[in-house]
Amino acid sequence: MNVSTPAESPLPFLRIGDRAPDFSARTTHGEFIMSALRGHWVLLFAHPADFTPVCTSEFIALARSAEEFQKRDCVLLGISADSLPAHLAWVEAINTQFGIQIPFPIIEDPSLAVARAYGMLDSAAQDSATVRSIFVIDPSGTIRAILNYPATVGRSVPELLRLLCALQEVDRAGALTPESWQPGQPTVAPPLQTQAAVEKAGAKWFFQPMTRERS
Ligand code: BEZ
Repeated sequence: MNVSTPAESPLPFLRIGDRAPDFSARTTHGEFIMSALRGHWVLLFAHPADFTPVCTSEFIALARSAEEFQKRDCVLLGISADSLPAHLAWVEAINTQFGIQIPFPIIEDPSLAVARAYGMLDSAAQDSATVRSIFVIDPSGTIRAILNYPATVGRSVPELLRLLCALQEVDRAGALTPESWQPGQPTVAPPLQTQAAVEKAGAKWFFQPMTRERS
């Protein structure tokens, strides 16, 4: 395992807008280098442990939606502290017991090098279990969204897909996506910047639909 963390940041906690730390690791699909995914969207999906009920439910849901992520040029990557043999055995068990093929790689991180670099460890953690962290990374390698759930609560795969679609729409149209926005629904314009623009927009100047896409 090889990890590079930002030199200017002594703390391993990442924020939106930071560069995703590069690393190389073994995965269920072979050797992997994070920086080789530049040019694609990436959903890095940490789970506390293999062979656990909530994680199994999440992986089944993610596998069922994998094509939706792929259509949007988003690479799915699972990761946990478990070893590669444990990942392989779990993937095999999900296939034999539930008839679901996990189509994306799962990274092994037994030294916790990646979990530390990305701040995936619960501050109260007594063992190597990571929290349910998610990092959405854009094609330039920039972290665009971070979610952390406790080990006890499963995540919503439709919400992760919605988040990806929203980020892509923001980039495509220069728009903002309102609460519970779904692809195809109206977006809103960024806040106005000048008094002239506010006066022209009228009483609802602070909530304007997106009418013209930025070039
Ligand atoms: C689970 O995925 O079910 C789980 C994982 C770690 C701790 C507790 C539950």
